[in-house]
Amino acid sequence: MDWTADDVPDQDGRTVVVTGANSGIGLEATRELARNGATVIMACRSTDRGEDAASDIRGDVPDADLRVVECDLASLESIRSFADRLEGESLDVLVNNAGVMAIPRSETDDGFETQFGVNHLGHFALTGLLLENLLAAGDDERESRIVTVSSGMHERGEIDFDDLQGERSYDEWDAYAQSKLANVLFAYELERRFRTADLNAASVAVHPGYANTHLQFRGPEQNGQRFRKAAMWLMNTVVAQSAEKGALPTLYAATAPDVEGGAYYGPGGLLNMRGPPERQASSDRSYDEETARRLWNVSSDLTGVTYDLPRPKPGPEPESGARR
Ligand SMILES: NC(=O)c1ccc[n+]([C@@H]2O[C@H](COP(=O)([O-])OP(=O)(O)OC[C@H]3O[C@@H](n4cnc5c(N)ncnc54)[C@H](OP(=O)(O)O)[C@@H]3O)[C@@H](O)[C@H]2O)c1
Repeated sequence: MDWTADDVPDQDGRTVVVTGANSGIGLEATRELARNGATVIMACRSTDRGEDAASDIRGDVPDADLRVVECDLASLESIRSFADRLEGESLDVLVNNAGVMAIPRSETDDGFETQFGVNHLGHFALTGLLLENLLAAGDDERESRIVTVSSGMHERGEIDFDDLQGERSYDEWDAYAQSKLANVLFAYELERRFRTADLNAASVAVHPGYANTHLQFRGPEQNGQRFRKAAMWLMNTVVAQSAEKGALPTLYAATAPDVEGGAYYGPGGLLNMRGPPERQASSDRSYDEETARRLWNVSSDLTGVTYDLPRPKPGPEPESGARR
């Protein structure tokens, strides 16, 4: 498959929420979705940065149908008020894209370690609170989709249930890898619950490979590491693909008709860091259903968000969904 942004099908009449839509991959995905006629709700923690990004897109796509709505994934209150503002609206796609990488330990408004809190728990809560909106769009004709953006770094991740928030020991890369493994475990568990409930909805995980965005600079900026920042700049310039290319797996998962629930998509070129999207296998740990269920329960306890979906029956093989 040599899928490009030109292959995005007509999105007229579809409404998509993209978290972290003001920068990098979220911005480029939003641009292409809008170019193809989708209404995009840009869920941004700063509405000023969101409006600047919307103006940038309108420079390219003058009739882009964009709405910037505040959503800070480091605050359950903000996530709840975002969901309240969308009450009664049906949503075709939710793209769980926003993220932070390898930052020094800090905590969200609710006391969660920030990488786990923003990358995973925030999206867990958001998806649960928007579930009714998403299921309202899915019917016999239309499938609603949840696309969760992980990273190749999930392969290094382990879920440390004894120290989920890095209170006893914290390594900024391990915390990132854990949060990105949590993204994949969540995407697969959600798909299993959709299948158990026999809903016309699909949950998929993607990764962008290595894309030149602001992600790589946040850690060194917060740490005051000028050398690491310069090294990241060099790597981003020489090795990374563009943010536009990095957005392709997300766009594919959000729009292509042949996407399968429970799949993992990423760039198929050099070291899976660049190239057109393809279906890939994620790490062995990401297919562990017991870990996924345990993480789901912990996430629900921590956020106070429950999903009105039946639990899949534990068994050696999933009925469908999370497959290699
Ligand atoms: N770039 C890569 O090579 C790469 C590789 C693997 C995975 N990824 C994944 O791709 C996704 C997008 O990252 P990117 O590369 O596009 O990075 P980026 O340019 O830094 O964009 C990250 C986005 O997340 C938003 N964000 C951060 N904290 C937030 C919070 N508390 N609430 C709401 N939004 C928040 C940022 O908003 P502000 O602008 O307001 O900070 C920004 O819009 C992430 O999930 C990342 O893990 C990227």
